[in-house]
Amino acid sequence: MKKLKYLSLSFYACFFLLYCVLGAVQAWGQSSSGLLSCQELRCEYLTNPLGLDVLQPRLSWFDTSTERAQKQTAYQILVAGSRESLQADKGDLWDTGKVDSDETVNIPYAGKALQSYQHCYWKVRVWDEHGKVSTWSESAWWSMGILDRSLWQGKWLSYEKLSKTPPEEQKAKSIVEKFQKRVPGPLFRKVFDVTKQVQSASVYICGLGYYELRLNGGKVGDHVLDPAFTNYDKRELYVTYDVTDSLVSGQNALGVMLGNGWLNVPTDAPWNFNAASWRARPMLLLQLRIVYKDGSTQMITSDGTWKAAYGPVVQDGIREGEHYDARREQPGWDKPGFNDASWDKPQIVAGPKGVLHGQIMPPIKVIQTITPVSLTEPKPGVFIFDLGQNIPGWAQIKVSGPAGQKITLRYGERLYPDGTLDQKEIHLHVKDKNFQTDSYILRGDGVEVWQPRFVYHGFQYVEMTGFPGKPTIDSLRGQVVHTSFQQAGYFSCSNALLNQIQHMTLWSYRGNFHGYPTDCPHREKNGWMGDAHLATEQGMYNFQNEASYTKWMNDLWDEQRETGAMPGIVPTPGWGYQWGNGPAWDSAYVLIPWYLYQYCGDTRILARHYDRFKRYVDYLTGKAKDHIVSIGLGDWMPAKTKTPEAVTSTGYYYVDTVIVSKIAGLLGKTEEAEKYGALAEEIRKAFNKTFYKGNGIYANDSQTALSCALFQGLVNPQEKEKVVDQLVANVKQQGYHIDTGILGSKYLLNSLADNGRTDVAYRIAVGDTFPGYGVWARQGATTLFEDWPGAKSLNHIAFGDISAWFYKYLAGIQVNPTRPGFKNIIIKPEPVGDLTWVRAEYESVRGRIRSAWRIEDKKFVLDITVPANCTATVYIPAQKADKVLEGDKAADKSVGVKFLRWEGGKSVYEIGSGEFSFISQYK
Ligand code: BGC
Repeated sequence: MKKLKYLSLSFYACFFLLYCVLGAVQAWGQSSSGLLSCQELRCEYLTNPLGLDVLQPRLSWFDTSTERAQKQTAYQILVAGSRESLQADKGDLWDTGKVDSDETVNIPYAGKALQSYQHCYWKVRVWDEHGKVSTWSESAWWSMGILDRSLWQGKWLSYEKLSKTPPEEQKAKSIVEKFQKRVPGPLFRKVFDVTKQVQSASVYICGLGYYELRLNGGKVGDHVLDPAFTNYDKRELYVTYDVTDSLVSGQNALGVMLGNGWLNVPTDAPWNFNAASWRARPMLLLQLRIVYKDGSTQMITSDGTWKAAYGPVVQDGIREGEHYDARREQPGWDKPGFNDASWDKPQIVAGPKGVLHGQIMPPIKVIQTITPVSLTEPKPGVFIFDLGQNIPGWAQIKVSGPAGQKITLRYGERLYPDGTLDQKEIHLHVKDKNFQTDSYILRGDGVEVWQPRFVYHGFQYVEMTGFPGKPTIDSLRGQVVHTSFQQAGYFSCSNALLNQIQHMTLWSYRGNFHGYPTDCPHREKNGWMGDAHLATEQGMYNFQNEASYTKWMNDLWDEQRETGAMPGIVPTPGWGYQWGNGPAWDSAYVLIPWYLYQYCGDTRILARHYDRFKRYVDYLTGKAKDHIVSIGLGDWMPAKTKTPEAVTSTGYYYVDTVIVSKIAGLLGKTEEAEKYGALAEEIRKAFNKTFYKGNGIYANDSQTALSCALFQGLVNPQEKEKVVDQLVANVKQQGYHIDTGILGSKYLLNSLADNGRTDVAYRIAVGDTFPGYGVWARQGATTLFEDWPGAKSLNHIAFGDISAWFYKYLAGIQVNPTRPGFKNIIIKPEPVGDLTWVRAEYESVRGRIRSAWRIEDKKFVLDITVPANCTATVYIPAQKADKVLEGDKAADKSVGVKFLRWEGGKSVYEIGSGEFSFISQYK
């Protein structure tokens, strides 16, 4: 009996337990059903960066799960000085304890003061809304660089075989004359002993213009064209490597090969880099710090005990190319046993004037190797390799032949009708016979593989002459070289032309980022500010390039004059303050940090540069007449109609002022927020007074003028509809063709879409007759062109914002300006024209966002992924709100979906994280 009672009690107990579990599961169903976790740990936007000199590095993470309604309510970060401490859960540098916060992005380190050379290991765990704590993340790390100039014990070394010219006489010469003589790239070496057991070893190196670092016969790391270009009078970047595993007990050897890069530009071209005040022979500063297991340290620094000699790079010029004589190689020069008795002592030099900073951005790397699609011989002995893709980088050749045989490679993006290489357009400005030309002289000892080190080119075709015998397709490969940002976004749709434009934009962006954004990878390689800001938003959708922009903003800081003036190009040797600038270009300084705030929630960059932004706006105020700014370049490369510069310049003046006012507000500077807010309103009024002609017409009624007024937010609300109608009428009148330059191309598509006319913008985008993107695509373009006729450079990024427009309007993934950094995502896809599907993914700072829609049996199906800790406001095109399903339920009844409103033919919902599938009755 007792037993029976016991059994029935157990039965009830089990039942109760099951009931509780099911209940809990069901309750979880209302919110999340799994534990949160933390992945993708980043520090200053980078994965495990080395050599930081930011005293409060910012930490971020996100959860890659796609569970619904994942919400972090608290976090705990541990930072430890050793792996062991972190493993033991000891945050001996920083233990935040449990912090109530849903933040996952850019949390500034606030632990013990960080020291030079310090290694920091960190991990994080988070709590969800039920108070459940996640497991600790995998550990990540960063290391500190050299925070104090006095800790740089090394000397700057340079090497030139001493000439007969006395140094005083050399000083008297102009910079150009002084460096007229071209000398081979130097090699430096140093042998040292490792006597005890090594705990850790790091090299800190700044080799200007570019360096290749070697240790015990091998290349250290995989960076190329390092460090990134800066104004060397203001700053130079050092790079940190962990070489713990490359040291051996006993003798070791460091070897460094230097190239000219941007330090010693030998070329006469309009921008005067050959006369840069920083110009000097290549130079090296290096420090190797070894920490032994017994706690002692050893420092190997660049000093008078090093040896130097000329190397096999006979000549290199960033614009002309690299010439390499393999017969001059000295095998083993970077190993301990090498006989360097004939080597000289290097010269100890003053070094550049700038301040050393850690390089906190992805380095340039060889990203991809491409096999040519064809090989032709348009003239006897002249071979043309076609890569089938316009790329930034160089050719790698594979050859065997007699010693002394010279192979010459010329790079270009066009062929003459007879199939030979056409460099005309890209060679335009450079007054040197050679342009984008490399050469290689064979050693003659079997198969030789070579690629240049200290230059890069923009090209699709490589002309090869001097090859011993006939090359085959395997004699050459194209190597794609650019800043090694990760791809962040993927876009594709049912329209093949748009997919091709997306492809062209991705490649033009890759082609135009080599430590700083450029206009083109061949003709100029200049950091044109206008091109850069026009391309930033698409750059952010497509690539993780936040750290690189952060670096470039420092470059802009360096170039701003006391007056507030900015040059057209950054870095600059001083060129660009007289011509090539103006608000449409200079506003990169205000706009790009603002984009970083919008896309990543980055407030630090705003605070750091705020005073400089103000200085820039004040500078424009000084240039304005009755609030109208007429200085600077206007809508560059217009299709047909030219728009007065004052329209676009005043447009940027207004936007910069609005942004300064908003930043002041964010920083709690109320008075300044009001001051600049009031100024902005005066500019807006003046703009309308000067340019608005009534009936929706601005200035010369061009697409650029009208869309500028709309895009920059200058139009009086009551006139907006008329202006939109006028713009649409203009576009129709031009047969749905774009009639803008680079500025207007961004305004036009965005302002049409913003004002409910994505249909019109779409017709422009898919048009394939002149002028338009489609014409380029039809011509087989693999990158974006500089001008609509396609007569100039074939690889410019300035027209690239169209890709951001794909993400924003076709896929509908948009920043919510009031919840920056995609804390709340707006997903507002526009099914337009003949599109039947669109798929886009974007890895934001908070995780992967996905918007993929298709039209199926008159139904609109939208699959969405919202990352953990985020919400989305979703706009579903539908006949009626009650005709929308999510999964198999009425949308407003579905878990985690809240109906907000019906707006302009769209049903609007608020959703939490997770995967959702909305279906609406559409047509
Ligand atoms: C560049 C452009 C740049 C322009 C400004 C050109 O030579 O290639 O992209 O913005 O100059 O004047």
